Amino acid sequence: MDKIKFFPNNLDVQNQKIILRLDLNVPIKDKIIIDDTRIVLCLPFIKKLIEKKAKIIIISHLGRPKGIKDPALSLIPVYKYLKKILQTNVYFFMGNFDSEMKDKFSHLKEGEVILIENIRYFKEETDNDENFSKKLASLGDIYINDAFSCSHRKQSSIYNITKYIKKNFAGPLLKKEIDAINLVINNKKEPVTCIIGGSKISTKINVITNLIEKINNLIIVGAMANNFFIYKNLKVGKSLIENNTKEIIKKIYDKALINNCEIIIPEDCVVGTSFDGDGKDKNLEKIEKNEIILDIGSNTIKKIKQTIEQSNTVLWNGPAGYFENKNFLNGTVSIAEIISKNTREKSLISVLGGGDTLAAINKSKNKLFFSHLSTAGGAFLEYLEGKDLPGLSVLK
Ligand code: 3PG
Repeated sequence: MDKIKFFPNNLDVQNQKIILRLDLNVPIKDKIIIDDTRIVLCLPFIKKLIEKKAKIIIISHLGRPKGIKDPALSLIPVYKYLKKILQTNVYFFMGNFDSEMKDKFSHLKEGEVILIENIRYFKEETDNDENFSKKLASLGDIYINDAFSCSHRKQSSIYNITKYIKKNFAGPLLKKEIDAINLVINNKKEPVTCIIGGSKISTKINVITNLIEKINNLIIVGAMANNFFIYKNLKVGKSLIENNTKEIIKKIYDKALINNCEIIIPEDCVVGTSFDGDGKDKNLEKIEKNEIILDIGSNTIKKIKQTIEQSNTVLWNGPAGYFENKNFLNGTVSIAEIISKNTREKSLISVLGGGDTLAAINKSKNKLFFSHLSTAGGAFLEYLEGKDLPGLSVLK
């Protein structure tokens, strides 16, 4: 297998324009960054490039604006954060990629940084548009992808851009991520338990069905579990559900049966009547019409604890509840604390991934220990599945 080209530490980049693709997709509410983990992880390399006197052009997306300039998904808060923390001039580019754009980047001096506004404000980004990729590439001399978490996307700033720039590399954070995940894949000890949360089952169906062949237990939490309740003819009140998932879920159960993989879904839950209100423990049979399932209940936490106690490897992506409200944080934090305790005391191999998962576990009051914390959600799962991620394949 071809090897990924990593950024060589000794490369002289003074006065070189570096296009640095990062994942600065952090949770932002009312223009305030709720969790800065992803930015913090990117900082050492940015600082190194500043020291090396490169001219740094940062590209990132935020959310999924689908080509629309939605102000709620602006990278301005991230720009302000970088401006405050980096000891150099930091600029923000919010123009279009037209004939005059190059001019706006030509003023960048050695050791300075320019952050481009949410690249997904341009539909061409997600379309992996050739022309757009060419324009992006024309801004720099070197391209570095340090966003492992976006490398499963075949999008301009990850994929086609590499066609139009000769020198392209993977960055050190990306290297750290895949080294750590490879270590787990190569050393994983059975029983292996995979915990999957989040809301959309349709986006994770392929990953789930492929993972079933490789693991012993699959625990479904988060809003995704609601679809399993519907499958089992339980009422879920006003909870988030996806339509037409019965076929998908049947496929999951069938595959699990063939592969001897146990599927565990919540036994009880915490419900509320709104996302910002209080919660109460409920048996799944007793959910009322106006109630929303917003976390897993105490019996479910016990069951997950037992499963983790019996596992030697745990992989986890996606929170167990609506962690943004502290009344529904308990499930996610409890799972994190059980995994952490077993990682420390019983050499459990634990890998956690995803922006939301990181943001949620950062809310624990205790210091937690895991074998590896990945910034990546979807990319992490697809990599575990054994897929050749598009963003990595172009760097080989
Ligand atoms: C993530 O949050 O997993 C990454 O930023 C990728 O985001 P995406 O799933 O919207 O491509």
